[in-house]
Amino acid sequence: MASIWLHKSIAALEAEANEPEGQALTTHDGVPLKRTLSAVNLVSLGIGEIVGAGIFVLTGHAAAANAGPAITLSFAFAGIACAFAGLCYAEMASTIPIAGSAYTYAYATMGELIAWIIGWDLVLEYALGATTVAIGWSGYVVSLLKDFGIVIPPAYASSPFSFDAAHGGWHATGAVINLPAMAVIVAITALLVVGVRESARVNNVIVAVKLAIVVAFIAAAAPFVSTAHWVTPSNPQGLFIPSNQGPGVFGWSGVVRGAAVVFFAYIGFDVVSTTAQEAKNPKRDMPIGILGSLVVCTVLYIAVGFVLTGIVPYDRLNVADPIAAGVNAIGLTWLAPIIKLGIILGLTSVILVGLLGQARIVYSMARDGLFPRTVGKIHPRYRTPYITTIVAGVIVTIFAGILPIGLVGELVSIGTLFAFMLVCLGVLFLRIREPRLARPFRAPAVYAVAPLGAASSLFLMFGLPLATWLRFAVWLAIGLVVYAAYGIRHSHLQIERRQRGRA
Ligand code: ALA
Repeated sequence: MASIWLHKSIAALEAEANEPEGQALTTHDGVPLKRTLSAVNLVSLGIGEIVGAGIFVLTGHAAAANAGPAITLSFAFAGIACAFAGLCYAEMASTIPIAGSAYTYAYATMGELIAWIIGWDLVLEYALGATTVAIGWSGYVVSLLKDFGIVIPPAYASSPFSFDAAHGGWHATGAVINLPAMAVIVAITALLVVGVRESARVNNVIVAVKLAIVVAFIAAAAPFVSTAHWVTPSNPQGLFIPSNQGPGVFGWSGVVRGAAVVFFAYIGFDVVSTTAQEAKNPKRDMPIGILGSLVVCTVLYIAVGFVLTGIVPYDRLNVADPIAAGVNAIGLTWLAPIIKLGIILGLTSVILVGLLGQARIVYSMARDGLFPRTVGKIHPRYRTPYITTIVAGVIVTIFAGILPIGLVGELVSIGTLFAFMLVCLGVLFLRIREPRLARPFRAPAVYAVAPLGAASSLFLMFGLPLATWLRFAVWLAIGLVVYAAYGIRHSHLQIERRQRGRA
């Protein structure tokens, strides 16, 4: 009889983590992943995944529709929830530095079924995260090309469907397919097959450009900030927060809905933990990578929120390129194409790191026998998990071609918040069950931080619409069927257990 509560022992995980390079990941093909990533690479990977469509696209939408100038408060709330979760991730990643992130932590703490659920959930997060950002990428590319007189027909640069729960669900948009979104996924998949070190190098360059663009925007726009824009016309007494107009539409409920929307902008620091086995010194550098990238991004987001809502009335920000719109509004039109170009590069790195993280989650799950062995195979020459990279690349390419951005973005957020919640609970679990375990990084005040992390993640989940909850439930249900049909019989732990039973 199989047990869904089987968990990996910490000793076994430590042994896996401490195996010298050359032996660490030899179980499949005798070829290891390479340990090439430094602390700076890890912070850069984090920023590469975090700063993306959330800040560059969704900020404007959330300011116009939900929070007004109080979008800065939404950023602060979402940032606080992420800080709690980030501390828990940092403790887990330094204690159990194995590729696989929250999935691996759950396997060590809460057993195989929960681990499977998280792994399955993370596949959704990373694959659909890349899809979401590819769709945003397509929008910016079309807009930039237009500045140079090159017009891509809209029918070939957007989703054939849109989804609007308030107006009867699915609608045909008249478009055929989103070709630029598909093209960027194909190109990045090819890069990731060639190797993580090469990818990390490309990523470092892109992250530098992206940070320069964000800082340039803040510096160029700050002198134009007018505090009058922060006093909202509908609520002149209330600095920042426009009067409530219904659930999630301005007022405090709008600030919370805004936080759930811009939470997407913070997703990504957890990706750092998926590369633990490619880090040179994971015990020290995982917390630096996770918390360092989170701190940099939180500071930048709050600054962008202040500046953007200080230079343009918030109700004019509901556009595909709010940052460029802000720059145009203050007359710096020459800056707009440069900003768009930087944003396109920035979004490219988000897609890159998302697909990289996804491949490593699936790799870990296949290594444990929860997916067929072939899925996690390492390429003999490039030493990357190429089969999962290519399979995910094909699926994500198709999704990016046909799905609307809002739908996929909300699914990513709910999936990520769910994973955050379980990681926070897992940290507590492990502290109680294995109090003496060596923890190179310990989350401070863990008995407050971990429950607060779980509670704030759940709170933000409640900020998302019911339709998103239902889609997420369907994805998890499919996952349970796959586990019942394959994983529960093929998992290495289950096989070992059966063998012990027979002996
Ligand atoms: N945080 C990432 C973004 O904003 C996913 O695009």
